[in-house]
Amino acid sequence: MADTTNTVAHGDVTQRVGVEVIRARGVDVEKLIKMLIANAAAEFASTYYYYTILRMHLAGYEDYKEICEDARLEDRAHWELIVPRIYELGGELPNDLPEFHNQAGCVAAKLPNPPNVVNILTVLLESERCAIRSWTAVCDMTFGKDPRTYDLASRILNEEIEHEAWFIELLAHERDGKSIPSGHFRRGEPGEAPYSKNNRFYNP
Ligand SMILES: [Fe+2]
Ligand SMILES: [Fe+2]
Repeated sequence: MADTTNTVAHGDVTQRVGVEVIRARGVDVEKLIKMLIANAAAEFASTYYYYTILRMHLAGYEDYKEICEDARLEDRAHWELIVPRIYELGGELPNDLPEFHNQAGCVAAKLPNPPNVVNILTVLLESERCAIRSWTAVCDMTFGKDPRTYDLASRILNEEIEHEAWFIELLAHERDGKSIPSGHFRRGEPGEAPYSKNNRFYNP
């Protein structure tokens, strides 16, 4: 039986079958592109950039710096993982950095005042929570309809959930003197990103 959803003409480079098939399954592609741009901005501008600044202010907490470094570099991996998908769907990044920054789906993880360890860990924790909510929304929108976007978003979500657990552990210890283990095993190298880079888990 002929598939009546086939609308891309033979040799046409202005249309994409990769978009046609997910639209036919009910994905609002324009809305999805907007969500992915907002999430990409949150990964790159709000998180990778600001985490760099926050990490610089964890002087004296070298173990916390290591955890922050993993979260920081994995957010860079998230950015690089999702940007190609925006273009495949027919979207593009804004050609203006302030405009891009202002579309971020999470508030900027700016250095708190005063920049002490408890305040920094609180910003880090809430930033991971925003990322979990944002990537879960992409998973919900694409589940069963757009397997490629779903796969990328769920890989990222796996790491965001780990990041939240890491910062709950550190903040509970620093602020409340409580032990709430994250279940964290160290990454093999900083920025290992086992899910989003499809690396093997640390198992020497
Ligand atoms: Fe991330
Ligand atoms: Fe994260």
